[in-house]
Amino acid sequence: MNPVGPRKVVATSAALAGLSLVLAACSSGAGNDPASYPDDDIEVVVPFAAGGPTDTVTRMIAEPMAEELGVQLVVQNVEGAGGTVGAGQVAAEDPDGYTVLMHHIGMSTAPALYGEQLAYDPVEDFETVGLVTEVPMTVIARSDFEPDTFEDFVTYVQEHESEVTMATAGEGAASDLCGRLLTTALGVEVTVVPYDGTGPAMEDLVGRQVDFMCDQTTNTTGQITEGTVKAYAVTTPERIESLPDLPTTAEAGQPDVAVSVWHGLYVPAGTPPEVVEKLTAALQVALEDQSVIDQMAELGTTPVDAERATPEAHTELLTEQIATWGDVIGTQGG
Ligand code: MLT
Repeated sequence: MNPVGPRKVVATSAALAGLSLVLAACSSGAGNDPASYPDDDIEVVVPFAAGGPTDTVTRMIAEPMAEELGVQLVVQNVEGAGGTVGAGQVAAEDPDGYTVLMHHIGMSTAPALYGEQLAYDPVEDFETVGLVTEVPMTVIARSDFEPDTFEDFVTYVQEHESEVTMATAGEGAASDLCGRLLTTALGVEVTVVPYDGTGPAMEDLVGRQVDFMCDQTTNTTGQITEGTVKAYAVTTPERIESLPDLPTTAEAGQPDVAVSVWHGLYVPAGTPPEVVEKLTAALQVALEDQSVIDQMAELGTTPVDAERATPEAHTELLTEQIATWGDVIGTQGG
């Protein structure tokens, strides 16, 4: 009998068990103990190109959130398919709080637009952290586009239909949703030119490569003010302070072209509640940061109140919006 043999085997199993625990801890990023969260950088996935409105809002809140959490928030642009590629990537990540998604109203339109092709369920596959902001949209065109007013624009587009090109950030993007509302209201079919985000789309609009776009004030205010694009209307019920001369779509005779783009933060489903709570608390601090309030005001928006920046309120909004836009898109025939 060799007592060493069996003991060796036991010792090896214990070592392997220990090693697999260490490997599991390593594979889920840094410390996965919710009590010590966060103790490493947090990746924030923006599902559109850099330089666009989602990226802009994310970078505004990333700094004060990082300060509050005591780690870096590293913004990653994972663009494609109207925001669904980046969202799908986050849904598949470890639920440890080290990968966060910033997404907008497209989170609620994707189920109706993509159906079974959508790789994730916006409600089941995520935990909500909270709502961030709601951004008005503007109907804008290249600076040398013929029509000068929204009324002229309507007539021009109805007369030229598919000769007119409309930039969007892909099916599922906010620009796509606003474009659908607009073209449906006007009863026209224009030629859609999809981009990975309205950051690059804006470059082409300023460069006069496309005719028009419906995009958020966080991306359009600077260009409108500088006159590098032509602005026709804002999509909110009231005029906005940052662009007071711009008529509303309702004033210009198109009340159905009404949409504001809400943005929210998410983590993969199964993320511990303590981790979500810490992210929500940091988000609420960022939304009260004076520099965030000022930057947003310049771009025509405001951070939401703390009671809307909670998982409960945001889940309620998301669920309601999935139903609302599902109906609208369904009526339009998908
Ligand atoms: C959109 O149209 O959904 C946005 O403008 C996307 C972006 O941030 O580029």
